[in-house]
Amino acid sequence: MSVSVAGPSTPSRKRSRWQTSDNENEEDQQPIIHPLKRRIKPKPSREFSSSPAPVAPSETQNPRYPTHSIYVPPRTHHPPITPSRSVYSYERLNQIEEGTYGVVFRAKDKQTGDIVALKKLKLDEEKNGFPITSLREINALIACRHENVVGIREVVVGDTLTQVFIVMDFIEHDLKSLLTLMPSPFLQSEVKTLMIQLLSAVKHCHANWILHRDLKTSNLLMNNRGIMKVADFGLARRYGDPVGVGGMTQLVVTLWYRAPEILLGAESYTTAVDLWSVGCIFAELLLKEPLFQAKNELELISMIFKLLGPPSSSSWPGYSSLPLSKTITLPSPHPHQFRQKFQYMTTAGIDLLMSLLTYDPDQRISAEEALEHPYFTESPLPKHPDLFGSFPSAAAGEKKRKLFDSPSAPARAADYKLLTDFDM
Ligand SMILES: Nc1ncnc2c1ncn2[C@@H]1O[C@H](COP(=O)(O)OP(=O)(O)OP(=O)(O)O)[C@@H](O)[C@H]1O
Ligand SMILES: [Mg+2]
Repeated sequence: MSVSVAGPSTPSRKRSRWQTSDNENEEDQQPIIHPLKRRIKPKPSREFSSSPAPVAPSETQNPRYPTHSIYVPPRTHHPPITPSRSVYSYERLNQIEEGTYGVVFRAKDKQTGDIVALKKLKLDEEKNGFPITSLREINALIACRHENVVGIREVVVGDTLTQVFIVMDFIEHDLKSLLTLMPSPFLQSEVKTLMIQLLSAVKHCHANWILHRDLKTSNLLMNNRGIMKVADFGLARRYGDPVGVGGMTQLVVTLWYRAPEILLGAESYTTAVDLWSVGCIFAELLLKEPLFQAKNELELISMIFKLLGPPSSSSWPGYSSLPLSKTITLPSPHPHQFRQKFQYMTTAGIDLLMSLLTYDPDQRISAEEALEHPYFTESPLPKHPDLFGSFPSAAAGEKKRKLFDSPSAPARAADYKLLTDFDM
């Protein structure tokens, strides 16, 4: 399975092809390059390239010299550059969802009959070329291939420069819709399986230097075989890259799932922001509704303080140096309210939840550590994914109506930057 990404630099060639036929296989249409008739026969002793390539006569005179720099890998080692296929290789079935940054369709591959999901990227307002957010999304999906990350198949293009689609495996459900439709919450054994899958995906992304930055139940897909897939890498970025002037953007992570350090204006943050979101998702799986349904940042902060108790110099040593901490009046100290809120959780379960919803990002548990938590080995044990019940797929039917309102991912207007910007 290869992913080919064509930039918008070759539009006219594509446009004329699509006009001739809807269903053509672009790969068959690649120009045939005839070997130059005058090409000099390669010497058998050439060390660095197996394929015949034109070489300067002076180089061929002495077979002891390589034909090109030893620092350049042989041509065969470069990734193949192939043109993107046309969106008309797919038959559109139905619209699944219109998200903040793209419309998602269910479609059928005309060649293989595979059912896929096509996410049309919103490029209309883009004046600076291909938007960085879309590049990040494609790159992150490729970098994070994993059983619990939605599989990217290819990128296809439509008739105009604003029509670029990410082709993904089609997954029947998203967790937010499932939680809304289910009559009762997931069982503890099911929550454990889902959490293990989510943490495995997050661990894998972090090991590959990718921060997701928008983990929430509507971005977690689940197929009818009980396998969860993390989706929507539209806000993902590489971490470990130098943080530029102005720091990393705080316009990340949908409000309800946003870590306190981002809320309080931290100019750089770590993988721990994703673990806070995982904590909010864990609570949502148990409660069957989002944990912090705040209308704005201030309300969210006060809801967090109420549940966790206000931060102290020991629970969060870095708190007072955060830009917005001065503007906040801390409530009087009180103990956390986890036990009252999650009455039926075991002590180990509460401990894992508190380790994820930890103020200090440096003390917050990592995905790798969380996977080793005793919660997952105590009774009831995680349920085998095959034993999950299957549900009717709203995504496979007609356009889904919005089941209940939740905030969307932050506006990416500020993120619409040129590739030269630091926060990438
Ligand atoms: N591969 C897929 N298979 C099935 N459904 C999908 C797939 N990818 C996305 N969806 C559906 O489309 C919705 C929106 O997709 P996605 O989150 O990638 O787009 P978005 O524009 O970034 O959305 P938002 O800003 O609302 O999070 C998802 O919540 C899910 O219901
Ligand atoms: Mg989304």
